Amino acid sequence: MCGIVGYNGKDKAVDILLDGLSKLEYRGYDSAGIAIRDKKIEIYKAKGKLTNLKEKIKDKELNGTCGIGHTRWATHGEPNELNAHPHISNDGIVTLVHNGIIENYQELILKLKKHNYEFYSQTDTEVLTNLIEYYYKKYKMGPIDAINRTMVRVRGSYAIAVMFKDYPDEIWVARKDSPMIIGLNENGTYLASDVPAILKYTKTVYYIDNLELACLRKDKVIFYDLNGDEIKKELKEIKWDVSSAEKEGYEHFMIKEINEQPVVIKNTINSLVKDNNIDLSKTGLTEEEIKKISQIYIVACGSAYHVGVCAQYILEDLTRIPVRVEIASEFRYRKPILDKNGLVLIISQSGETADSLAALREAKSQGIKTLSIVNVVGSSIARESDHVLYTLAGPEIAVATTKAFSTQLVACYALAIEFSKILNKIDNNIYLDLIDELETIPEKISNMLDNLTTDIQKISSKFSHIHDAFYIGRGLDYAISLEGSLKLKEVSYIHSEAYAAGELKHGTISLIENGTLVVGVVTQEDIFEKTISNLVEVRSRGAYTIVVTEEGKDVSKVSNNTIFVPKTNRYFFPSLTVVPLQLIGYYMAVSKGLDVDKPRNLAKSVTVE
Ligand code: F6R
Repeated sequence: MCGIVGYNGKDKAVDILLDGLSKLEYRGYDSAGIAIRDKKIEIYKAKGKLTNLKEKIKDKELNGTCGIGHTRWATHGEPNELNAHPHISNDGIVTLVHNGIIENYQELILKLKKHNYEFYSQTDTEVLTNLIEYYYKKYKMGPIDAINRTMVRVRGSYAIAVMFKDYPDEIWVARKDSPMIIGLNENGTYLASDVPAILKYTKTVYYIDNLELACLRKDKVIFYDLNGDEIKKELKEIKWDVSSAEKEGYEHFMIKEINEQPVVIKNTINSLVKDNNIDLSKTGLTEEEIKKISQIYIVACGSAYHVGVCAQYILEDLTRIPVRVEIASEFRYRKPILDKNGLVLIISQSGETADSLAALREAKSQGIKTLSIVNVVGSSIARESDHVLYTLAGPEIAVATTKAFSTQLVACYALAIEFSKILNKIDNNIYLDLIDELETIPEKISNMLDNLTTDIQKISSKFSHIHDAFYIGRGLDYAISLEGSLKLKEVSYIHSEAYAAGELKHGTISLIENGTLVVGVVTQEDIFEKTISNLVEVRSRGAYTIVVTEEGKDVSKVSNNTIFVPKTNRYFFPSLTVVPLQLIGYYMAVSKGLDVDKPRNLAKSVTVE
């Protein structure tokens, strides 16, 4: 998805903009551009990677200390220089960058054409740029009025950064349903669609809300509401480390983030467990509220949905509250009937995923209590949920999630264990045992990373030529197979499907032939033999099997390659089994020489439908 960065201060803007844009590259993009104001505003754009833009401006004297930049992920119009941002209005009054989608842009083009506006690009952004200019010229009431009129006229989502020709010392920012933060330090003011872009410069930020407007001067930021009235905002401190957004010697962010899992899981557990007790007080959920929950609806997308599938098994088992897990893009449009005492649990790393945000709003519109598990502080989902449980994964840069997934999982374990205790479904001894075991997960993962990585690298390189793979398991092993399969396909482009092992016989087994790769996950004691039988079935049809199982189990009869994970409580196996599955996906992609951190067609946070 697109990225925005901006700076207004004492230093040369070009360096800060290019550096910020490089930190947003991971979001996926196909062109880039900057606008720098010195005596006048100069715009430079290039198709393709940021290096193309850098090449284009390398001999220019760009000394301006105010500017905006953008990486574009094409939606309206092909990825080319003309469609790249920044865009400029017909009379050159407005220069603008935009993230999001303007849904009624066709209608607005017709309106503006009646007023003799012409368009050079195929983008919805150019329409936005000209609409601001149109209101600016028509009402002659300055930037606040022009942007506010535009905000009420457009439909869709947007985060915009705007420079007005007539206001040389200011950058204007507005947003609706698309992320944007504004930072501040002694050298100036900063804006970005995502924290890593400005983390190096400042950790002191403002969160701008939907339908608000901000004016960034060199030394301060002023906020306005839709009426044009000034509003006060509190500065917040970002807790993330600058180093967490750097590769620090690793070949890719994905492998760095896989290796960070022991630390970030530990941090997340430590934020929830105090003196052998799980403390949910930071979420604001009270025991009384928990006791009243009649149903839990987990709603999320992609990997976060897979966390939800794991959580469904564990929450239901431990609390005996009925749990349903749904894909957010389906939930939002199927007019869900929700019990008034239900809890909607949204899981999202970015906190900005459009479908998850819409699902949250649907739940709220029905008056249902909402809790979200979110990684990015101040994100839209975090701000709009009644209750928030933050994961402490730090910035996740690789498009394919690994460490955020793992912190979401442990956050769900903590919820399940605590809810279970509050509902008197487990006694204190079991409660303490579960917490003790939960706390061993980071070390177990750390040992696995030390012991397994080289072997998995070897196995994976053997299979990098394949076209199809299947992941099978039952119960929690099926839930984690979904994630393993997604990891493989998204980064290595190998077609892969996850199946509940018992479901194979109902059709899919016809695809198994000599040499088909089947990854079996077999950890759950009560259904162990059942999955083993399913592995026998695929082996007898010629499949090559990699089996992920618990130390000490003999699966030699059904396995060509066995990956052992340490023993743990049955609920916690997904945290361990996911690690080799992540490594298989990663190393298969590496051996194919692919761009692991930025797989084709994918974006880090999906802020459009
Ligand atoms: C896959 C992946 C995606 C995200 C999904 C939801 O590796 O990262 O499937 O899990 O797009 O994103 P968030 O968690 O930001 O809502």
